[in-house]
Amino acid sequence: MHPRLGLAHHGAVMYVDAITLVITLPDPAATDRLAVAVAPLVRPGDVLLLDGALGTGKTAFARALIPCLTGRPEEVPSPTFTLVQTYETDVATVWHFDLYRLAGPDEVLELGWDDAQAGGIAVVEWPDRLGPLAPADCLTVHFDYWGVDDCGRRATLTGTGSWTPRLARLTADPLGDAP
Ligand SMILES: Nc1ncnc2c1ncn2[C@@H]1O[C@H](COP(=O)(O)OP(=O)(O)OP(=O)(O)O)[C@@H](O)[C@H]1O
Ligand SMILES: [Mg+2]
Repeated sequence: MHPRLGLAHHGAVMYVDAITLVITLPDPAATDRLAVAVAPLVRPGDVLLLDGALGTGKTAFARALIPCLTGRPEEVPSPTFTLVQTYETDVATVWHFDLYRLAGPDEVLELGWDDAQAGGIAVVEWPDRLGPLAPADCLTVHFDYWGVDDCGRRATLTGTGSWTPRLARLTADPLGDAP
């Protein structure tokens, strides 16, 4: 599919090269539902950047997403100390990175970044450490604290390149609420 999304608008055609969705996540179950809704859009070669401050739910999102990708229950430990955890699916290896403790792109390469790119699926916490390794075509999910006493979260999803039309498909029902 062409990565750009054509929208009819007052008789003209607009082309959109990026798309952003803002979704409130009142409780941890909502974070899980968003991950379950994103999972069918993911394909080999993808990079998902999970961005946001400490404790905003990046690992929680990955923990709900990865079993959907592998098709079986998975223990998904936080890669805070191991830096990367891998999971096999029928079609690709899922690489779950936590780059918090890394200084920059050189250390990311030492973790196997190029292998992850070769047909794998990369799910990346603390993606700012990627620097120039961050691809132009990706899904970024940015998490913020939200709500009274920061009891909930808000996710801002930005899709670029091939993710633009894919994310557009999520707009109708991002948390799978439709009957
Ligand atoms: N929508 C939500 N509302 C309230 N709490 C949430 C929500 N989503 C996740 N949480 C909770 O936030 C806490 C921290 O989550 P998590 O460890 O996934 O954060 P993180 O962003 O990976 O943190 P770190 O920066 O340390 O890697 C967990 O207790 C999780 O259950
Ligand atoms: Mg984490």
